[in-house]
Amino acid sequence: MASDVASPRILNASTRLCAVLGSPVRHSASPAMHNAALDELGLNWRYVGCEVNPERLREAIEGARHLGFVGLNLTVPHKQLAMSWMDELDESAREWGAVNTVVFGRREDSGDWIPVGQGDANGGPVLARGYNTDADAIIRALNEDLGIEPRSARVLLLGAGGAGRAAALRLAAEGVSVLYLVNRTVARAEELASEIEERYPAVEIHVGYPDGDVELVLNATSLGLKTGDVSPFDGNLYSLGQADGVYDMIYRPSSTPLLDQARAAGCKTANGLGMLLYQGAAALELWSGRRAPVAVMRAALHREIYGLEGPR
Ligand SMILES: NC(=O)c1ccc[n+]([C@@H]2O[C@H](COP(=O)([O-])OP(=O)(O)OC[C@H]3O[C@@H](n4cnc5c(N)ncnc54)[C@H](OP(=O)(O)O)[C@@H]3O)[C@@H](O)[C@H]2O)c1
Repeated sequence: MASDVASPRILNASTRLCAVLGSPVRHSASPAMHNAALDELGLNWRYVGCEVNPERLREAIEGARHLGFVGLNLTVPHKQLAMSWMDELDESAREWGAVNTVVFGRREDSGDWIPVGQGDANGGPVLARGYNTDADAIIRALNEDLGIEPRSARVLLLGAGGAGRAAALRLAAEGVSVLYLVNRTVARAEELASEIEERYPAVEIHVGYPDGDVELVLNATSLGLKTGDVSPFDGNLYSLGQADGVYDMIYRPSSTPLLDQARAAGCKTANGLGMLLYQGAAALELWSGRRAPVAVMRAALHREIYGLEGPR
């Protein structure tokens, strides 16, 4: 008889599935991170990566719902698009305007929400509920990996793309005192600054480099991903010696020209692995109702991305 208890890496008729949908998705380290966690928790679930074009996203979500998937993660380019295909949006998705985690579940007559990964598989219609676990992961990574509490901090944010926008809004909601936005396309930074002024009037916002010390420099540009990339930071306009900590959302490679500069200037530094880890841990907790084994997930990410046996 098929078992609900996991034999690690043995699939059977009771195995439940979760997946990350994206395009491209082959580089994703999420399956390694989540499958290590599922083994640790003894859950007979597997997590896979599925290449899905944006035109097929709706059908892919429908297919996963009808195949009894526990949940999904969404990555580039699906996070905003998926907002339209959810039956329900959690406040986190509404607040940050993007869905990176889908939980399949049922609404009981009482109004209680029961994820399929935590309840009876038979019952009323299965609904897709969208969450955003990315934004809180930034705050947790800054706290746990860099020892920085953004509330009341002065922050220089480099980049105003999808990740930069989410970081700026989440930092504003957290109550940073001053936010400096720098982006190659200045109009995009100005647009983001206007949005923050409107939604978070208590935050002082500037487009351009700071004129004094900051607690944090946060890189949300993609400069540093490729070999030969220069730093996104203009050392003629600001000195990293005026920053306490530098966080780079990039985690592959493990260091970037910006992080190298920051270490040389004596700043505390961390790369973006923690962000990836904490959004995944939060998703797993939403699906399973269990505490995510963060150390196991971190070690799996290190092995998958850097080829190391454990955390460094
Ligand atoms: N650690 C994590 O879990 C995590 C999660 C999400 C994203 N990320 C990382 O965050 C970075 C941004 O991702 P995204 O989704 O926001 O991408 P995106 O929407 O494409 O935005 C890219 C950003 O990088 C800037 N940029 C690109 N090329 C540049 C160049 N040559 N010089 C200066 N600026 C340049 C863009 O400026 P323009 O506006 O001028 O084009 C924009 O601000 C990526 O490195 C991604 O890997 C990490």
